[in-house]
Amino acid sequence: MNEKELCKAAIDAMKNAYVPYSGYKVGAALLTESGKLFVGCNIENAAYTPTVCAERVALFNAISSGERKFTAIAVAGGKDGVISGAFPPCGVCRQVMAEFCTSDFTVLVVTGIDSYKKYSLNELLPEAFTPKNIKK
Ligand code: THU
Repeated sequence: MNEKELCKAAIDAMKNAYVPYSGYKVGAALLTESGKLFVGCNIENAAYTPTVCAERVALFNAISSGERKFTAIAVAGGKDGVISGAFPPCGVCRQVMAEFCTSDFTVLVVTGIDSYKKYSLNELLPEAFTPKNIKK
């Protein structure tokens, strides 16, 4: 799967977003090292704080299926499902990425139907606190 296809999968994943409060639909598409695709959408909650972001849903979906190695994630989002620029991953999602992904993990931020920006996880979360910082 190439980068454009991964972005397309993130855009498709927006459709299942459960967003009665913010109206912001977000989709994420995660690629494993073995080439498998896992998707996620944001799921909001009337109590607000239990809301989970699309990126974490995709990651937890993959992790709960036994996957541990990932190469890239694409993220797309916008009000009422209309993409009008970047919808970059929040800090909590960056931290969850840092738990499971190496610093060269690719993050594609969709900016339009046919455009995206490409980052490494290290660019989005430099000097990350990772499992390596915990002595066992
Ligand atoms: N959201 C995501 O799904 N991913 C992010 O990285 C940022 C925020 C969601 C949470 C909430 O449902 C909506 O976008 C507005 O914040």
